[in-house]
Amino acid sequence: MAIETSPPPTAATTGTSPTGTNPAVIGLACRGCGRPEAAGLSYVCPACFGPLEVVYDLRAVGATVSPAILATRPAGVWRYRELLPVAVPERSLAVGGTPLVSATRLGAALGVDRLLVKDDTRNPTLSFKDRAVAIATATALELGLDALACASTGNLAGATAAAAAAAGLPAYVFVPADLEQAKIDHALAYGATVVPIDGTYDDVNRLCLEVADELGWGTVNVNLRPYYAEGSKTLAYEIAEALGWRLPDVVVAPIASGAMLTRVARAFEELVELGWVDPRPVRFVGGQSAGCAPVATAWSGGVDVVSPVRTPDTIVRSLAIGNPADGLHALELARGTHGSIEAVDDAATADAIRRAARLEGIYTETAGGVTIAAVESARRRGVIRPGDEVVTLLTGNGLKTPDAVRFGVADENRVATPGRPGLAPVLPARFSAFEGWLSA
Ligand SMILES: Cc1ncc(COP(=O)(O)O)c(C=O)c1O
Ligand SMILES: [Zn+2]
Repeated sequence: MAIETSPPPTAATTGTSPTGTNPAVIGLACRGCGRPEAAGLSYVCPACFGPLEVVYDLRAVGATVSPAILATRPAGVWRYRELLPVAVPERSLAVGGTPLVSATRLGAALGVDRLLVKDDTRNPTLSFKDRAVAIATATALELGLDALACASTGNLAGATAAAAAAAGLPAYVFVPADLEQAKIDHALAYGATVVPIDGTYDDVNRLCLEVADELGWGTVNVNLRPYYAEGSKTLAYEIAEALGWRLPDVVVAPIASGAMLTRVARAFEELVELGWVDPRPVRFVGGQSAGCAPVATAWSGGVDVVSPVRTPDTIVRSLAIGNPADGLHALELARGTHGSIEAVDDAATADAIRRAARLEGIYTETAGGVTIAAVESARRRGVIRPGDEVVTLLTGNGLKTPDAVRFGVADENRVATPGRPGLAPVLPARFSAFEGWLSA
């Protein structure tokens, strides 16, 4: 008679995702020293204080899912659920599934032969942060946490507030007090408690470390950070899938903490390990605002230390992190792939916002302006070469930074004249009045 025995536990059967809902999750591990850590609310290595990240058994993933299976699923972040640390929640926003569009007119203006734009301005709260927050919120729900919080440079505020609303959790959003009003109003609209802090983003972040430790709330980019960071990988999966399961030559993306760019790179590695794409030496280019460019300064200075910027001075509030958690990792990524980190001044950022809007009909916020200008700098530098396929990540919508598009444009140049677009004078509701103005 056959005796039934249980197979020995493997990564695939122990399942140590926060509550075991993705059996392919092995657990957390320190990126610095590799030390394993049980999944849960830990985010820093007790041995070396390095950041923790989620580790998967990719063989188990490959045995369960394939590009053909993915193709049968709806678009959005949960299409790639086997490569995410938590199960699909019962209630959530419709995040991701954004288009990869060919931007030939903008490409020609920038001197880039094949420019593709990942248009992430179209997420539920108009930025890519919805991706990261979707995963953090699902984790908070699985862990039974009773509130969501975040330290935000602006876009995370709206994303956290909206996701909490959809999940039925209270949200506490901590922001620098001098943030753009549009971003504060956005978070308030979803019913969040917005806490303006008299200080920089780095001051806000330090406070949130204490909030997370003392109150045990799910602070999406602090104690839920390993899960939160995983959300950005979905940008990479969508790009590879849109290219027909292929990697591009160059990826250009904005850097604040550096988490997004580095997770996109990790996701490409996963796809190679899974055998879903062929290996390819992708160059990674990061963009920072010159008024807060700790990573770009280290890159151009050829040093291995990212020195914090104490007082950011830029219109690019969304990227104004003076002491980026993943800055060193982003620096190593750019160096190791023969990419670059470009510093962009505010005038070039504003000009790039206007160019993308007028040439492609894509209206991006300041981080996108930095990214487009970074494409141009990297092309000039020779990091982007003739014939390259370049994927540019536009991660937030221009409606969030309505003043930026006017930056550097004199008031008189914003007025429409016959032949020059802009704001026309108030006219009477008569065709003859319009015709008269047009031919004046
Ligand atoms: C629109 C936008 N793009 C990019 C980033 C950079 O993300 P990360 O902090 O992961 O580098 C941010 C960060 O707030 C952002 O708001
Ligand atoms: Zn460690």
